[in-house]
Amino acid sequence: MLSTTVRAPAKINIYLEVLGRRADGYHDLETVFQALSWHDLVKVSIDPDGPPHTKVTCTDARLNGPDNLAHRAVSALRHRSCQLGSVHVHITKHLPIGGGLGGGSSNAAAVLRAVTSLLPDPPPMPTLTAVAAELGADVPFFLHGGTAYADGRGDHILPLDDLPSQAVTLLLPPIACATPQVFAALDDRQRGPRQACGPATLSTRLRHDHGGRHNRLQAACARAYPAIMELFTWLDQRRLPWLLSGSGSTCIVFADGVMDDPPPGVQVVTSRFASRAELS
Ligand code: C5P
Repeated sequence: MLSTTVRAPAKINIYLEVLGRRADGYHDLETVFQALSWHDLVKVSIDPDGPPHTKVTCTDARLNGPDNLAHRAVSALRHRSCQLGSVHVHITKHLPIGGGLGGGSSNAAAVLRAVTSLLPDPPPMPTLTAVAAELGADVPFFLHGGTAYADGRGDHILPLDDLPSQAVTLLLPPIACATPQVFAALDDRQRGPRQACGPATLSTRLRHDHGGRHNRLQAACARAYPAIMELFTWLDQRRLPWLLSGSGSTCIVFADGVMDDPPPGVQVVTSRFASRAELS
């Protein structure tokens, strides 16, 4: 039996712009991902001589079974003729579901990384990237971690130099946002079309100007999930530097100040930017 445990970090988008609608139902995006130190743990055990069976278990029973993106990651590898034998994935879940932190996508990429590290003849990076993009637009980022620029559906990744580590406070309201619903709530003006800034401009801007942080999905998230406005208003009233993560519902405060009076039901988690080297 071969076995390894890898970290599956959360991500935030410190910049997310919608460039326009695509013919395939997705949107072209320009985004800068940042991995965080907060993570799930993904243990992958392989019996190379066992039958081609996949089992996924999770500390959160809602995520057991074949619908889990981690299960689909193993199936996608088998589909590409990877000889895996029996695979058991066990996920120790800390990251929220539907929080905009990419937990499910990160678990799937962690499986791809773990399986690759266990196989004597692993699939090459272009195959892993293609499998990751097939699984979901956020998955390819988690093959790299650290700081990365992405365009296309958000799946075409260009790793950037790590941004200096920075403390963040995550505010998690008791609302799970469905990404398709948030994109569907964009109005015509928010949907574009507009020009991309490009990786060089964004990397410089985000390194030197915290005002460069942006999320075009913020207003659409509030339209799709009006209950989240309470948290937005709470943050604005305190003049905190904050941003919605991805399609929500987590709000990121770029400071590690103590939040001793969050709105009812809001969970507070302190984390920090994680470098690419921390992915292994
Ligand atoms: O690929 P993923 O599962 O992350 O996307 C979920 C949904 O979010 C898509 O079906 C689509 O409705 C929306 N989406 C989009 N444009 C993107 C990424 C996601 O419209 N670039």
